[in-house]
This record gives sequence, C-alpha cells and structure tokens, in this order.
Amino acid sequence: MDYNCIIFQKEKGYALITLHRPDKLNALNSQLFNELNHALIEIEKDPEIRLLLLTGSGDKAFAAGADIKELNQSDGQTGRLFSEHGSKVMERLANLRIPSIAIVNGFALGGGCELALSCHIRFASEKAKFGQPEVNLGIIPGYGGTQRLTRLIGTAKSMELNISGKIIDAKEAKEIGLVNEVYPHDELMGKSMEFVNLVLSKSPKAVSSVTRAVMASETLSPSEGLAFESVLFGQMCGTDDFKEGTSAFLEKRKAEFTGN
Ligand code: COA
Repeated sequence: MDYNCIIFQKEKGYALITLHRPDKLNALNSQLFNELNHALIEIEKDPEIRLLLLTGSGDKAFAAGADIKELNQSDGQTGRLFSEHGSKVMERLANLRIPSIAIVNGFALGGGCELALSCHIRFASEKAKFGQPEVNLGIIPGYGGTQRLTRLIGTAKSMELNISGKIIDAKEAKEIGLVNEVYPHDELMGKSMEFVNLVLSKSPKAVSSVTRAVMASETLSPSEGLAFESVLFGQMCGTDDFKEGTSAFLEKRKAEFTGN
C-alpha cells in the first residue's frame, strides 16, 4: 500500500508511525484510518516488531481530531459508520500483541486524544494539549473518548472534560493520569527512545505476554483475569527466555534473551 497520510517506518525492534497531514494538524480522515489499519496489520504479522511508537508530523499537533470537513457530510446513518470505522482501527491498536506508545508532540484533541488513549502509554511534550471538544461541534466522542478516557481518569474527570470540551495542558494531563510523563518539547523523542530501549532489552515474549495480560484486565472479571494471568505465566515458564532470565540471575550475569 502507498502511504500518503502516515509515514510507516520499521526500525530495529520497533515501528514508528507518524500521522502525516501537517497542514491539517494531522486530522484523522478516512484515508488516514485505512492506512493506519493497513500498517497495524503489517505490524501484527511481523515478529521482528516488538514495540510501536505513534506520533504526529510537524511541530504543532499529534492529531487535532477527526477530519471535521469529512465529518460535516455525515447524517444520522453515515455518522454511525464514521464512528465505527475509526473505532475499529483504534481497537486494533489497543489490542496489538505488542505495547504501543503515543508520543504526543502537540494538540491531541477529540479523535487525536482518543488515538493517544488507544495506545498503552502516553509521553507528552510540554507543548501538548488534550481535550474532547466534540460538544463544541454538536456531537460526542466517537472513538472511545467516553469509554477509554473514563476508565483511565475516572468518571468525574472524564465528565468534566467531555461536557465542557475544555482543553488542558500537558501538566494537568499528567496530574489526572492521562499521560505517563511530560518532557521538554525538544527532548520528547530522545526521552521516549530511552524508554523504548529499556523495553527492548527485556524478554520479547515476556513483554508481549504481559501486554496481553494487562489489557485483559479491561474486559475480564477479576477472577477471570487472574486465571488468564496464571495461564500466561505457565506458558512463559516453558520458554527459553525464562530459563535464560532465571539462570542469568542465579549465575550473576546479564541475560541474553533470544525471544524463544
Ligand atoms: N479537521 C479538519 N481540519 C482541521 C482540524 C480538524 N479536526 N483541525 C485543524 N484543521 C485544519 C484547519 O481547518 C486549518 O486548515 P486550513 O489552513 O486549510 O484552513 C489547519 O488545520 C490549521 O488549523 P487552524 O485552526 O488554522 O490552527 P490554529 O492553530 O489556529 O488552531 C486548533 C488549532 C487545534 C485549536 C484548531 O485547529 C481546532 O480547534 N481544531 C479542531 C479541534 C476539534 O474540534 N477536534 C475534534 C474534532 S471531532
């Protein structure tokens, strides 16, 4: 597939997707969603990719939301399809077998905030701004802003953002648990890469397995979740990485993981 609205790079051990409509503040149109979906399918098929980074082109925006020009054409029926289309892509992202990190370099509004929420972790620039301003447009969030945001920051804070449409800065986003860390704008990528390299130094199978286990906590009951964790724990004990990791500890040396 030719990518025009995203830049898809495969690097050593990880993939980087850059939302790439800088003149429209990386607004999410249907072509961008199709390209993102295609890239995620490529990632799912590639065992060499162990982590996904998602960021925005330009200096101003991660993504300023769903494309309002495209959205404006919707009616009561096509509007639902508009929401379902983007929502499915974000669901694919949230359920990837590998961890994903949103590197939020500017505005993350509406669908842009929801896309960041579909990643497992969020690192933000001091310049980043977050919000669900859909009520300004006479709509509501359509890609998980009422669901993922509420699970992440709680009902009261989610309500506050969703009913007011207010935009918050990165510092406040960190205070309410919307982002993991905030970095000076120029250091955002470098600091994010330090974290990426830390994760890439761990057992690939363990990282992928623990990603599945943590994500399962969102849908399984506590007892089902614990049972699932035990199944995955048992599977990990049958891997070469487990033997290597535990032996390296006992032999007081650094583990050399093979991913088997
Ligand atoms: N959909 C489509 N185009 C968008 C967009 C969106 N969500 N957000 C920004 N753009 C476009 C603008 O129309 C403009 O295009 P133009 O130059 O062809 O007119 C360009 O991106 C730059 O945006 P602009 O508004 O001029 O930048 P700004 O710095 O003055 O304001 C924002 C930045 C983010 C505050 C403002 O663009 C905005 O409010 N965007 C919409 C946010 C929103 O409501 N998102 C939820 C959508 S469901």
